[in-house]
Amino acid sequence: MATPRFADFERILFFTGAGLSAESGIPTYRGKGGMWTEYDYEDYACQRAFDAEPDKVWDFHDKRRAAVAACAPNDGHRIIAEVQRERAGTSVVTQNIDGLHQRSGATDIVELHGSLWRVRCDRENIVRDDTSVPMSPRTCTCGAYWRPDIVWFEDSLDHRVVRRARELLEGCDLLVSVGTSGIVYPAADLPRLAMQNGATSVEINLEDTPVSPLYQHRLRGKASEMLASMR
Ligand code: OAD
Repeated sequence: MATPRFADFERILFFTGAGLSAESGIPTYRGKGGMWTEYDYEDYACQRAFDAEPDKVWDFHDKRRAAVAACAPNDGHRIIAEVQRERAGTSVVTQNIDGLHQRSGATDIVELHGSLWRVRCDRENIVRDDTSVPMSPRTCTCGAYWRPDIVWFEDSLDHRVVRRARELLEGCDLLVSVGTSGIVYPAADLPRLAMQNGATSVEINLEDTPVSPLYQHRLRGKASEMLASMR
């Protein structure tokens, strides 16, 4: 089957994961060198850990902020932003929290798992952008800690964000999944909505994943190169 071309579709949806940012030098979560092979999420990425030791959890997130701030968007991010400029119906639903889509010029990004660059008052639930590295001050004027506005393990996804993602997936005519292991739910279920509505489906990854059999087209290789092949 010939590789689908962006030019043949009107409403393209990119569903992205950590593999897209790997070429920028940001470690993925699983597999060799993956974040969760080095760090235990129970110590660094769940509300219980934050309640017990907020400064330890912030030290970890400050390290991530510094690492991501030192990285730049790669050609994969740039191709997605270009396709969005060329085709008005293009949208991005990402599991990434690194902000690299925004830095590459893409807009209207649905961030399923929140952002490393937003903080939320742990008491009042106020959310604000914050790009300081290290994040400072760690406490809100109310005295409670700010926490990263990230969907940690055991947190629920924001239902408004999920609703927007569902609408976009249901409405697209081309679904391009890029660099995700497809094992983290409920995010991993969302691409099915596009397939059920008849969208052409493409999975870009270095290797097969548990959801690969659902896709009509499986492109194997680096995200930037496989995206370039669809131009
Ligand atoms: P994973 O680390 O689980 O998977 C990354 C995927 O990218 C793997 O399937 C790799 O084979 C693939 N990959 C790596 N480098 C690539 C490259 N250069 N080009 C193409 N593919 C490549 O990351 P996610 O699926 O994004 O959640 O993980 C989902 C969620 O689990 C994350 O959002 C995060 C994590 O826990 C939260 O932080 C809440």
